Amino acid sequence: MTANPRSIGSIRHLSDCYNIADFRELAKRRLPYPVFHYIDGAADDEVTYARNTAAFESVDLVPDVLAGAEDVDTSTTIMGRKSALPLMMSPTALQRIFHWQGERATAAVAEKFGIWFGISSLSTVSIEEVGERWSGPKMLQFYYHRDKALNTALVERAKAASFDAIALTVDTIVSGNRERCKRSGFTTPPRITPRNLLSYAAHPAWALNFLFREKFDLPNLSTHVAAGTGKAVSIQDYFNSMLDPGLNWKAAERLRNDWGGTFCLKGIMSVADARRAADMGADAIMVSNHGGRQLDGSRAPFDQLDEIVQAVGDRVEVICDGGIRRGTHVLKALATGAKAASGGRMYLYALAAAGEAGVERAMGIMQDEIRRAMQLMGRKSISELSRNDLRTR
Ligand code: LAC
Repeated sequence: MTANPRSIGSIRHLSDCYNIADFRELAKRRLPYPVFHYIDGAADDEVTYARNTAAFESVDLVPDVLAGAEDVDTSTTIMGRKSALPLMMSPTALQRIFHWQGERATAAVAEKFGIWFGISSLSTVSIEEVGERWSGPKMLQFYYHRDKALNTALVERAKAASFDAIALTVDTIVSGNRERCKRSGFTTPPRITPRNLLSYAAHPAWALNFLFREKFDLPNLSTHVAAGTGKAVSIQDYFNSMLDPGLNWKAAERLRNDWGGTFCLKGIMSVADARRAADMGADAIMVSNHGGRQLDGSRAPFDQLDEIVQAVGDRVEVICDGGIRRGTHVLKALATGAKAASGGRMYLYALAAAGEAGVERAMGIMQDEIRRAMQLMGRKSISELSRNDLRTR
């Protein structure tokens, strides 16, 4: 996403942010560049990443007026739990690197808005703490490791902490080629090198918070692997050495049985896979390309949504994950037949820029945008949105 052409003047404070692109600008200003580019970057030429948002422009909304949409109900049910919005905060990793409040800020805002959020297996706050402190709907984004004992431990911990769903990440059996990370030398925890030293020094607030607050940890993994014990590794190396590239349908089924609860596959893109997911009894699929961070040149979730909804929409909940920057994007996904939309960077820029206050402002903006767009569309509830509301260019 490029700088926001509609911004007037520079974006220096949270109160200058009126849309997700503004939070991106503020995050860029406030973060050392390796950290910013880890969030902002994607794979190879980042074509898929750009398309994830651009795809929403290939259809237009057609409003009905004089519909008396004074009160609108934005609530829905996603994977069996009530959600105040048809929008989820996708699980994303390493949040305490972006801002010292990390996953705690994300969880608190999700609870405040009454919506789903998720933590990654690579979260910087433990499954137990999240389960104990936040009662709202939450998923564990499951990375399937070579170490089977670690996989078993993750399932058991998610059960004990009463997570509402496991979302198995199926698009990341090896790492995508993250060239920005290669250039910046981004590692977890961040390693200060002669090349990036100046950038860390130029962002003392970030650096002091990172150095002197709670020690960096990946508490869901550190019982089993060296990552999380302080050893700096790149995400690419982590994925390539720790994750199981042999992950297949059989393993997915086994995982679903071991878990026994609500099960989602995150990263389904083809109709054939969506059918197979429905056949195996998955409760939901996230149509996703991991924010363009894995297979560059793959299709955007929104471009692929229609075919998938047509094929399996009556058997499995379809969530459109990726590229969401506006309330109208959410409406377009729902009108196409998605049960919900979901986004990561949508709130991560705001987290990085201003912690919990940032995430709260960003999600407040998304909530307002969804509500306003429904009113302007003449729709009083989510169920009133349909394919008839859209025209393809
Ligand atoms: C990434 C992982 C950690 O995309 O989700 O970097």
